[in-house]
Amino acid sequence: MTEITQKNKDRARELVSRMTLDEKIGMIHGAGLFRTQGVPRLSIPPLTMSDGPMGVRRDFHEDSWTAVGDSRDYATYLPCGSAVASTWNPILARETGEVLGREARGRGKDVILAPSINIKRSPLCGRNFEYMSEDPYLVGRQCVPLIEGIQESDVAACAKHFVANSQETDRLQVNEIIGERALRELYLPAFHAAVTRAKTLSVMGAYNLVNGERCCESTTFLGDILRGEWGFDGLTVSDWGGVFRTRESAESELDIEMSVTSDFDDYKFARPLRDAVLAGSIDVGHVDRKVVHILSVMDALHMLDGQTPSVRKAGGHSTLDNRRAALDVAQESVVLLKNDAGLLPLPVRTMTRILVVGANADRIHSSGGGSAEIKALYEVTPLLGLCAELGGNVDVRYVQGYVAQGAGEQSADWQRESLSDTSARARAEDRGLRRRLRDEAVELASQYSHVVFVGGLDHTYDLEGSDRADMKLPYGQDELIEALLSANANTIVTLVAGSPVEMPWAERAHAIVWSWYGGCEAGTALARVLTGRVNPSGHLAETFPMELSDSPAHALGTFGRPTEVEYGEDIYVGYRYYETKHVPVRFCFGHGLSYTTFRYDDLRIERTGDGAVVHCTVTNTGDVAGKAVVQLYLGLEGTGEDRPAKELKGFDKIDLGPSQSASVSMNLHYDEAMAYYSRTAGRYAHARQASLYVGESVQDIRLSATLTVDDATVEKHI
Ligand code: BGC
Repeated sequence: MTEITQKNKDRARELVSRMTLDEKIGMIHGAGLFRTQGVPRLSIPPLTMSDGPMGVRRDFHEDSWTAVGDSRDYATYLPCGSAVASTWNPILARETGEVLGREARGRGKDVILAPSINIKRSPLCGRNFEYMSEDPYLVGRQCVPLIEGIQESDVAACAKHFVANSQETDRLQVNEIIGERALRELYLPAFHAAVTRAKTLSVMGAYNLVNGERCCESTTFLGDILRGEWGFDGLTVSDWGGVFRTRESAESELDIEMSVTSDFDDYKFARPLRDAVLAGSIDVGHVDRKVVHILSVMDALHMLDGQTPSVRKAGGHSTLDNRRAALDVAQESVVLLKNDAGLLPLPVRTMTRILVVGANADRIHSSGGGSAEIKALYEVTPLLGLCAELGGNVDVRYVQGYVAQGAGEQSADWQRESLSDTSARARAEDRGLRRRLRDEAVELASQYSHVVFVGGLDHTYDLEGSDRADMKLPYGQDELIEALLSANANTIVTLVAGSPVEMPWAERAHAIVWSWYGGCEAGTALARVLTGRVNPSGHLAETFPMELSDSPAHALGTFGRPTEVEYGEDIYVGYRYYETKHVPVRFCFGHGLSYTTFRYDDLRIERTGDGAVVHCTVTNTGDVAGKAVVQLYLGLEGTGEDRPAKELKGFDKIDLGPSQSASVSMNLHYDEAMAYYSRTAGRYAHARQASLYVGESVQDIRLSATLTVDDATVEKHI
């Protein structure tokens, strides 16, 4: 594990003692859009960073957002954060990290600006696709191995955005009012895990304010909590353009200011800070402290060794191994939401033709989304994946079905349109085109036995910098799906998206498959699930509500407002809310079907010194191999405070052959599992009793028991 050692810190301090003020200043702000200044005199190289969570972003010129544009920066496009979380497989999270680390290092980067680990508070947040889950335990379990994987390659991970960047609306100015309990139980734990367990070497401050403090100058978050309580000794970097005031940020625990403009000398941590230090109004000790953090990280990454050959790992990008890993992750991220008539898997051996409908079947997504965009080496679309998988004996007919925006194509008539004011006509023609495409698809659907619709969202909607306006499928897809289902009740509905959508037709559809932005092999993975070559084992890492107004932040009307947003739902985010308040949902947290079924028996709680091990037996009761996601929830009792009905406290994923049984054991440490932030005491406390549930989702509970902690254990371990 790459960790900062005392030796790294001593070395950093010694170097700082030999540096001039200008040299130090050069190291704490952007001297290019993605790098700081080095100190050649002391053999200190610049620190180079790159986005982001789905692979290593394209290279830009140092001083403008123009792509360099040569072929060196084609990269392996990885499944998005939501997809990684939906695998419920920490081994695959680690593989994702390993690929990111190798690719980053292979491209000469020192810090990869990933993972994005904010909590999904609303289905509408534009960056939900980058984020992992609504549940902090699941984010922690998946981001820790991911970060460890990145840092294996002598590259720093950067856990972002600290903290609570859970909306994009007014992201530079919004002040989020969040109670201590929600901060401690929901918004901070994943960062805590990233820092204390994964030892992330860097953390990015968020754009937003929390409780009146700007995150990139916050004494509470960067200082008291991150450095103080958690003992973080890596480096902190601002989000790009997240620093507004020189003194406040300089005196805070923020180490590097990055921004989006090329007037690097005007950055707050450049001339303004230098002048303030020279004038004696800001203590140089603040600058020194920052440089020590930065140099400690650089030394831990072997950037200061100056040896030839270098002991630093070399990495490697766009390799076959990296692409294989992307496929492994994508395959386990696809979620089978519904399959009540056995339409799936497709009968590949007996079918001779299939109709594929929907613009997302033929669309690539890698180049969109904001800073998470990837210049993908390639991206297999669902249509290509299906054709590749089905081969020559099945005739695949594709029709678009609806018109999607911004797919990069321009209308064949663009020259004529450009000469006259055709906007009204263009819109009308558009309506005409829409009708034509829909009629064609519906007509064909009635003639085919096998119809797969592939729709969903794209990065016009799942996008950094703005939130969605509603939770509906765009481009008239709901009407199209209804019409397809009327024409052919066996239409299989497949959605590719980064955040939930309302599905008013869900009762009518027999088969619904969910695929995230799944990386370069997304289409292969989806096709393999549809054909049964891969048995689906993805489970939702977030709740899919019936309607937007069911979701807590929206029920309260406190999402997406500018200026100030109150997180009035407290800890009742996602399933914590739906389960406790008995609000029906479309698909619950943890839900995911398989082509086989699993039986759960023999729940046994074995007490250990500091907690318990929960054992059960899981049996594959079907005739195909499959992977079960065994989930463990607790409902804390007797606390005298309102608590969620269930909270995820453990899970395991196991691979079982037909009729095979296996014993599953999940560890519970009382100190963590029974802990809650007491509103009355204003600190953590521990419950003595809990209802314990084991199941395949938060609602599909198969086994339950009561868990009690005896006095002796409390005395000793809590
Ligand atoms: C995003 C960050 C990203 C940075 C650099 C910002 O707009 O919020 O996540 O790492 O840009 O591209």
